[in-house]
Parts: sequence; structure tokens; C-alpha cells
Amino acid sequence: MHHEDPQPMEFGPLGPLKGAATVPGDKSISHRALMFSALARGRSRIEGLSGGGDVMSTAAAMRAMGATIERAADGAWEVDGVGTGCLLQPANALDMGNSGTSTRLLMGLVASHPITVTFVGDASLSKRPMNRVIEPLSRIGAEFTAAPGGRLPLTVRGICPATPASHVLKVASAQVKSALLLAGLNTPGETRVFEPIPTRDHSERMLRHFGVDVRVGEHDGGRDIRLMGEAELQARAVKVPGDPSSAAFLAAAALIVPGSDVLIQGVSINPLRAGLFELLQLMGGDLVFENARDADGEPVADIRVRHSKLRAVTVPDRLVPSMIDEFPIWFVTAAFADGTSRAEGLGELRVKESDRIAAMAAGLAAIGVRAEESPEGLAIEGNGGTPVRGGGTIASQLDHRIAMSFAIAGLHADQPIGIDDMAPVATSFPPFRETIESLAA
Ligand code: S3P
Repeated sequence: MHHEDPQPMEFGPLGPLKGAATVPGDKSISHRALMFSALARGRSRIEGLSGGGDVMSTAAAMRAMGATIERAADGAWEVDGVGTGCLLQPANALDMGNSGTSTRLLMGLVASHPITVTFVGDASLSKRPMNRVIEPLSRIGAEFTAAPGGRLPLTVRGICPATPASHVLKVASAQVKSALLLAGLNTPGETRVFEPIPTRDHSERMLRHFGVDVRVGEHDGGRDIRLMGEAELQARAVKVPGDPSSAAFLAAAALIVPGSDVLIQGVSINPLRAGLFELLQLMGGDLVFENARDADGEPVADIRVRHSKLRAVTVPDRLVPSMIDEFPIWFVTAAFADGTSRAEGLGELRVKESDRIAAMAAGLAAIGVRAEESPEGLAIEGNGGTPVRGGGTIASQLDHRIAMSFAIAGLHADQPIGIDDMAPVATSFPPFRETIESLAA
């Protein structure tokens, strides 16, 4: 999806947030649902797919490589897959927009197919490091040419048959892990990935749902994943749960705006994604899971959140991977806690859609919150729950989560907060503003 005209907006107090809301389908799960259905033989049906721009980039790419992907009258998506090994050579470069997940996972998928694919993206995606995927995929025989520093535009020359490999992840990254597993689908024999630090396991769970032989062993605190290649994926029905990373903004808003009481329905509470919710509870936040249930192998619940007096915390190391996308909104939440909150070991945040440590430190300063940046962390001085000063204009830097984090801060600020560009929010949470306004009405 292409970034068009900037959309500047202001966010100020709207009063207490009350009532029930839903969030778009989980972005990580949506990408995988489309990719696996597009690779399966037969027709799959996906309910609750995210309609965000990132997931639409994946849909367009899978269409360009031969899948038929259509939206049915009832809003579900129907996908006719091509079969493993049968991805077609796309006619043009694939435009990945802002989406790192689409790019890295598809690099893996293409690596073991006999096709050559060029990936391009927006200014943010074109700054992001791809060597973390290029290096291990080169070991199976795929070839790459990339812009300096291993960046987009980038061309993958796939190899078929690829050589199966055993990989040890150097960065805790579900994208890298998934790229290697996806390459394994059309590779003869066993592909093995060891991750010393567990990361989101949606690929493992959903590949099993599509009938692939994936085994996960645990040792030394890490996970050893084995996938049997030349896998025939079976077409399936998939229900995508609500995105916890989008729910995080509503939960934070309810905690910081006095008088709020919100129910966020049908959200994934996969333990490898739910770190923020646990941390908010540790801070004294009144956040409870209700009606916990299973949706096609993913745990789901409704999340009830009420305004709370929050205490500062130091983020336990064990929670960092399971809240990696939630740090921007957590930094904002910490600004309303009593005392100074700290997080370290966040080096990966510097290579997300923006440098999220720098972008958040600058934004917090602009709205009157004291925050101190370290090479891999941030300390945030909380005000005990009073409104922040606000004012100023935030540079969202083509990063949806920076934009939404400061929009939430505006809900409890003395002066409205300006965001230079809310357009990037459409990558993950198109109805963000409407959802907040409906809870305020
Ligand atoms: C994702 C993995 C994470 C996360 C991203 C989505 C995925 O990235 O930040 O938003 O769907 O696998 P890394 O693998 O770079 O940690």
C-alpha cells in the first residue's frame, strides 16, 4: 500500500471511555493465514482477516504469484491456493509497502521456489535490515542482491531443490524464524530452527492447522523446531482473533483516562504476545481476561480494563519478547504511573518501522514527559496519573504505533497533541479513531 498525502490530526480529551469494542484481526496471524492458504491445494476460507495495509500487501503478493484471493459477500476471504512448489514467477516487483513481516516471510517462501522475485517498499521499509534473513537463506542455496547494508530494493533468486539446513537464530525474531520455516516447506527433508529465546509461534501453530508436520521441543529455555519438507498443505477454514497489539492501545487508554471501563472482545492472548497485559497487571492495572476460549489453536479472551492508579515498574527481561511491539504504548502508559519506569534490552526497537526508542523519547519530550534514552532502553518519569502537558506536534516517522501511542496520550493531556501524519495507522488499525470515539460517546 502506498503512502499518500500526510494526514495531520489532533487528539485531546474525550472524557471516560466506556462500553465494548473489537479490534481488527491479528496482523501476524492474518499474514500467515493468507500465505498458507495461497500455498495449499484447494479453497481455504479466512474469517476475521485484518483489512490493514500490511496484510493487503501480502494478499497482493500472493495473487502476483498465482493464488486467487477474493472477499466473499459475508466479509470472509476465500483463497484458492497453488500447491507447494508451484508459486508462479511474478511479472513485476512486489511492493511490500510498510510491511516487514510480508517481506521477510515471503523472502523465505520464494527462496525454495524456482522463481526470481524483487521486493520494494516505502521509505521506512527500505531502511530496515534484511541480512538477518539473507544470511541463513543463503545457506539453503538461494541467492540475493540487495541495496547497501542488506536493504530493499532486494532480489531473491530461489533454488529448487533447496538444501535443508539446521539454523540457530542470532536475533530473537519471529520473522526470521518464520522465513526459515516457510523456506522449509518446499525443501526436501527436515528444516530445523533453534531459537534460544522463544518468539511468537503463530507459524508453528498454523502450519500444523494446515496439516504440516511441525514438532517443537523445549530445551535450555529455548525452542527447537523441526519441519518436514515437501509438505502438502491442506486447504482449511481459519478464524483470525483480534490483534492484541491493537487492543493494547484501547487497554492503555482505559487505564489512563479517569472513569473508563472498557471490554475489548475476542482478542488473542497467546502467551508469546500477551506480555504487555501481564505487565499492566504488575503495575496495578485493573485488567482481566474474561470468557477465555480457543480459536483454531490460538487462545482468545475478552479483556476488561478499568481506569487504575498505576505504579512504576522495571520491565522484567522475560516479558520483553512477548511485548516487543507494545513498547511505544507502554512508554506512554508509564508516563501516567507513580514513579520512574525502566526497560532495557530493547535494541530491536531501533530497527522497527522507525527507531522506536528515539522516536518515543523525542515525542515524550515534546509533550512534557521526562524520559531518558540509553543505547537499548528508556526510563520514563511518571506523573502519578494527572494529565500530561501535551501540546506539540509528534513526528510519526511512517510508524503506525508511534502515531497511535501519542494519540492515546492526548486523551489525558492539558493541551491537545498534534500528530504530523496519522495515515500510517491504516497499516494495522484503519478504524482506530472511530473506535476510540465510539467508546467516548
Ligand atoms: C512479527 C514479528 C515481530 C514483530 C512484528 C511481527 C511477525 O518482528 O515486531 O510486528 O509477525 O512475525 P521481529 O521478528 O522482527 O521481532
